[in-house]
Amino acid sequence: MHSEDNWQFYPTPLSLATKAWKKFKNNTITKVLEPSAGNGALLESEYRGLRYRMDNVDVVEIDMSKHPLLREKGFNVIGLDFMKFEGGSYYSHIIMNPPFAQGAQHVLRAWEILFDGEIVAILNKETITNPHTKERRMLVDLIERHGEVEFMTEAFMSEDTLRKTNVEIAMVYLRKQSLFMEDLAGDILEGLRSEQEQDHGLGYEQENQLALKNSTIENLVIAFKAATIANRQQVFAMARAAYYRNILGSTMERMHSNFSTEETTIKWVTQTINEMYLDLKNRAWANVLRSSDVLSKLSSSAQKTVEKEFENIKKLEFSKANIYGFLLGILEKQGDIQNEMILNCFESITRYHSQNTVYYLGWLSNNKHRTAGMRIKMSRIVLPYFRIGFSGQLEWEAMQKLRDYDKTFELLNGQVVGPVEQGKPLVEGGLEDVFQNQIDALRSGERVSSKYFDVRYYPGRATMHLFPTDKKLIERFNIRVGRLKAWLPEFGSGNDEFMAHYEDAEKFDKEIQTELKNRKDQWRFGNVTYYLDSKDEHDRKRANDYITGAVSVVLERRGYNIHNMLTENKPLQLTA
Ligand SMILES: C[S@@+](CC[C@H](N)C(=O)[O-])C[C@H]1O[C@@H](n2cnc3c(N)ncnc32)[C@H](O)[C@@H]1O
Repeated sequence: MHSEDNWQFYPTPLSLATKAWKKFKNNTITKVLEPSAGNGALLESEYRGLRYRMDNVDVVEIDMSKHPLLREKGFNVIGLDFMKFEGGSYYSHIIMNPPFAQGAQHVLRAWEILFDGEIVAILNKETITNPHTKERRMLVDLIERHGEVEFMTEAFMSEDTLRKTNVEIAMVYLRKQSLFMEDLAGDILEGLRSEQEQDHGLGYEQENQLALKNSTIENLVIAFKAATIANRQQVFAMARAAYYRNILGSTMERMHSNFSTEETTIKWVTQTINEMYLDLKNRAWANVLRSSDVLSKLSSSAQKTVEKEFENIKKLEFSKANIYGFLLGILEKQGDIQNEMILNCFESITRYHSQNTVYYLGWLSNNKHRTAGMRIKMSRIVLPYFRIGFSGQLEWEAMQKLRDYDKTFELLNGQVVGPVEQGKPLVEGGLEDVFQNQIDALRSGERVSSKYFDVRYYPGRATMHLFPTDKKLIERFNIRVGRLKAWLPEFGSGNDEFMAHYEDAEKFDKEIQTELKNRKDQWRFGNVTYYLDSKDEHDRKRANDYITGAVSVVLERRGYNIHNMLTENKPLQLTA
């Protein structure tokens, strides 16, 4: 795996960061890029000549674990590997302290992507004084033609250095000037001709590629690049038009008003291109979310999390590497997301109707304090709050809940929940499907079969009853929940007596309910299962004591030895 040393993380001390900022000659900042940002130390310098607004700072950093902090500090994280970066934004200032071993390559890349602006880079002195590679020679050449360099010693040994290293450094300054202004004065007819030809060629090639390649991501990236180029050309053309308009002079009507020449400035061009670029990224990322079926695989609450994160996602540069990185991140989280879905489903089944579950004693081998475990019943699940809306269909939220149940049980059954066409149910024959297509039968009280449950609906009470048709699936569900809640032992621990009581829990339910009623004086707070999950430790303990007290009495009456049952550690087969 990668480590900080692989990526050569050495944060710049503040004193050195300030020196670096002082190197810039242009004090008007449009947009800043830090292409190997670490924790953003270079951007912390508040050198007074350079006031930049945080939302004008883009950062790239290969180590994803640093992204949350960078975002917290207000920077736009737009990419991971700078060597693969193809950002279309137009920066006025690039400030960098890249990994020393790849210093020259990083600065050359910065030079390449820069349109019109300045670069300040902190490098190892060796990079300049010992130009034994092609890249180093190119860099030295660039410095000779477009900039300057200052050598310093002890820069990473000052008081405020976090990771000290005894290295001599080179502070490189480069200024790149676009040929834009010269372009403006160039032969416009010549320019127009060659642009038209280029456009033709490009359009033709793009169309062919779109038709031939079947990969959505690739097509999106191609479309994005084409849109970026087209936007850029549009803005240049507007600037060029304005330039020539200005040569011609104002109209008679406007002679006496203030005539703006703004559209011909570099600032206008870069700002307009930046705005258009952000808009394109926003559209492109929204498209990835829409078409990658990422969202359809998630529960509605997980969907909300991803949607909230969209603000961060849409800032990332729109490249294949970043798209795959993002999708992979979601995949990695998928295990957690599945678990979250299962727990949400369990909560929504148990929360509003205490009789959907039966109790058992939770497994906590090293803890004398007993906990109450719960599992849903095999026989019948009662779900309230499923109202029919004006449209004659279930209300939207109720339908979402059914989709979540469908997704959860489909996943538990090892099925992949795929992308679906608009308006189609997520799972064929699932709960959502029967409520969409057999609502009349359900409303008239018929018992309707769905993929994993028989369903009966009571419109008056807005309640439905589910009768599980696949007991093994419910068992799997109960075991997954039990393990996630630590009510059940991990595979291979626990013992037979414990498992016997878990498996027979439904048989003991009546007796336990009676026992609970007898102990009513111990509980006066409403739905006890709700308190089992309370954030308040005191409430949780009280609810636990009430239930485990009743369960223990019943189990002992049935001949169980609770102490042995919970503490003995014998191999056990528990299949999910
Ligand atoms: C010497 S540290 C400097 C960090 C920061 N610029 C500063 O001045 O505090 C180099 C940083 O570059 C990152 N890095 C290494 N290779 C990179 C790459 N290819 N693209 C982007 N960042 C990279 C490392 O993870 C590390 O945070």
